[in-house]
Order: sequence, then C-alpha cells, then structure tokens
Amino acid sequence: MPRCLVCATAIEPFIDFGRMPIANRFLAPEELADEFFYNLAVARCPGCELVQLVELVAPEQMFHERYAYFSSTSRRMSEHFAGFAAALLAELPPAPAPFVVELGSNDGIMLQHLRSGGARVLGVEPSANVAAVARERGLDTRVAFFDLALAEQLRAEYGPADAVVGANVVCHVAALDELFEGARRLLGPQGVFVFEDPYLPEIIARTAFDQFYEEHVVYFRAESVAGLARRHGLELVELHPQAVHGGSMRYTLAPRGARSASPRVAQTIARERELGLHTAAPYAALGERVGQLAKRLRETLEQLRDEGKRVQGYGATAKSSTMINYAKLTPALIESICDTTPAKQGRLSPGAHIRVVPHEAFVADYPDVALLFAWNHADEIFAKERGFEAAGGRWLTYLPEFRLDPPHMR
Ligand code: TMP
Ligand code: ZN
Repeated sequence: MPRCLVCATAIEPFIDFGRMPIANRFLAPEELADEFFYNLAVARCPGCELVQLVELVAPEQMFHERYAYFSSTSRRMSEHFAGFAAALLAELPPAPAPFVVELGSNDGIMLQHLRSGGARVLGVEPSANVAAVARERGLDTRVAFFDLALAEQLRAEYGPADAVVGANVVCHVAALDELFEGARRLLGPQGVFVFEDPYLPEIIARTAFDQFYEEHVVYFRAESVAGLARRHGLELVELHPQAVHGGSMRYTLAPRGARSASPRVAQTIARERELGLHTAAPYAALGERVGQLAKRLRETLEQLRDEGKRVQGYGATAKSSTMINYAKLTPALIESICDTTPAKQGRLSPGAHIRVVPHEAFVADYPDVALLFAWNHADEIFAKERGFEAAGGRWLTYLPEFRLDPPHMR
C-alpha cells in the first residue's frame, strides 16, 4: 500500500494515467530505444492533506546535464521573476545587502533580478547545463541537489540567509522534510522561506491535469504547506496568489514566532475546506473530467485528420506530455510541435515521438490548425501570432476552455 511521503499515512489514489515517459525528456532518434517509462498516478494523503504522486522517478532521471527547460524562454515569466524579486527585496532590510539563496535557480533569471536589486545571491541547481548559463552571467551557482548537509555547509561558508526562495521547485522534491529542515537551518532568525508552485485548488478548478507529471511530485495548498512548516519549526505567515502556470500560490514561511501570520492564511485554509478539498469527492470528480477532456481532444483531432487538415502543436511544454500520451495523440494527428527552445528542436516529444521544430518552421508554413499546448502563455502567443490568423489559421485550445476557432474568429 503506498504511503505518504511526509507522514506515512496510507494515501488514496484518485487518478491513474498509466505508463508515461519523462515529460521534459526530448529524444534524439538514436535514444528512442531506451526511453524510460513509469506509472503516473496521483493520490491524496488523508493524514496531512498532501496530494502527491504514487510512483516516484529518481531525481537523477529528471534533473541532469541535459535538462530541457530554460526559465528565461518566456517574456512573461521573466517579468514575473522581476516582480517576485522586487516584492521579496521590499520585505528584507536593505542594508547590509541581504543574502538570498535560490533553490532550483535554473538559468539564473531570478538571481539576476535579485542581484540588480542589491542582494548577494547564491543559486543551487542540480541540472548542470542550465546552471552553466547562470554561471556565464556571473551568478554564483552550486550544481547540487539541496539537502541538509548542503544547507549546513552553505550556512558555515556564507552565513545565515535572509531569504531562501524557490519558484516551481519545491513541488519537484520528494525529500520534503530534508528540504524544509535545510531551509530553516540556513535562515537567520528573521529570515523568510518564500516559494511558489501551481496551486492545487486552481488545478482542480480548471481541470488543469497537465500539471500532473513526474517532476511535480507534490501539489500544494495552504493547509498542506502550513502542516509541513509546523513539522520544521516554521510557520506559514503569508500567501500571495499568482497568475502564472495557470494559477500558482506564493507561500511565505518564517521561523515560528518571528512574524505574526496574516489573516489571509486562516481565511485561505477555510476556503479550501469549503471547497471540500479535505475530502475525496473533488478528486474523484477531477478524475472523471480529465477522462472526458482527453477523449474530446482526441475526437476533435481525428475529425480534423478526416477532413484533411494539417494540425501543428504550439509549445513543446513538459505539461503537454501528460495530455499527449494520456489522450494517445500521435504524429498522424499532430504533424509536429513548434518551440523556441533550441534544446528541444530537432528532437522527438516524449512517448508520442512527435517532431519538435523551430518556431520559424511554423511561420514559414502555417498549419490549418494550431493546437496550443503552452496554454498558460496564451495571451503572449495570440498577440504575437496575428499573422497566423490573418492567413486563415485556427487555434485549438483545451485549457482553460475547450475551443476550436471557426476560421478568422479570435
Ligand atoms: P512552460 O509552460 O513550462 O513555461 O513552457 C513553455 C514552453 O513553450 C517552452 O518550451 C517555450 C515554449 N514557448 C514557445 O515556443 N513560444 C512562446 O511564445 C512561448 C511563450 C513559449
Ligand atoms: Zn501525509
């Protein structure tokens, strides 16, 4: 019987997607033979309310010297990190220069904003290729997984941190006790641990099941974060909802007793309970809706194929892997996927093996229909692809709503 990562209570699975590939592993043709698969299933812990994957993939399979996701790829995310850095620095005493450690610092996009805002920064990033980009920008970065030993070592070397931060990284970690304990030990007495991740109630409200994939080991909401904080002498003191990644939450934790909790914390937990998120029902209903959505997308694509239409995917996102492989979409239904990330281009999408082509290929030869996989970047993308619509192209979206544009309509 599977048990909770944190509290060891027997967990209750509510969705099983079956065999899935690694979502961020784009393959060269010679790598197809040894593609790695695991079983993607999600469960809720009735003990501590943490929603989590049932089968875990070893971190080394996911975060390595060939990691495909570069945080700087989206203009909107870059602006978002500038805002995150500014909001954090406004909370910290300005002098002496605050010391901020970022977990999962990727290519340094946020470290850069923190440094320009006057902070001393250090990144911790296990994927060597993305960390190398940060280092080229002169941003001090450790290529390592963050654990207790590293936390102690960093504290001894650099002194206590004024802030430990993480964006879309804490939800990637199965060793949560070690991470939270490490963060607390690295922080000074007035320090804050601030992180943001996709917010479970938003995932449920939007049926955004494409957030479920192996990198996202846990799916937080305020109540589960508050519980985790308590286990490690920390307290959840503030919450700030964020629009990115289809609806995220920024959590601020402080050493217990150091700050008083904002009323928003209790209010948010109460609202989560009103939604019944501490019961099985909303999770079972999500499972139902997911099946219907995948079926509808597949049927729509089959119909377009029967009509002889060319369909191209837009944005080879990690989260599209769940939809593509669960709905059993194939190169016969989607001829290719365009993406601006050089590390993904010329490769094949995980599982379904759909070709990833540069954005230029989309523009050079527009398909009849573009299936928007990067739906969280819809505004940015629709704004820059007016030419596609002008040429008679139609968008197909499945989140946050299912929609196939009639010609010339958006
Ligand atoms: P994300 O949803 O995890 O941020 O991933 C977005 C992916 O989509 C990433 O591979 C970059 C790609 N992308 C484009 O190809 N064109 C775009 O305009 C945007 C915003 C993203
Ligand atoms: Zn638990």
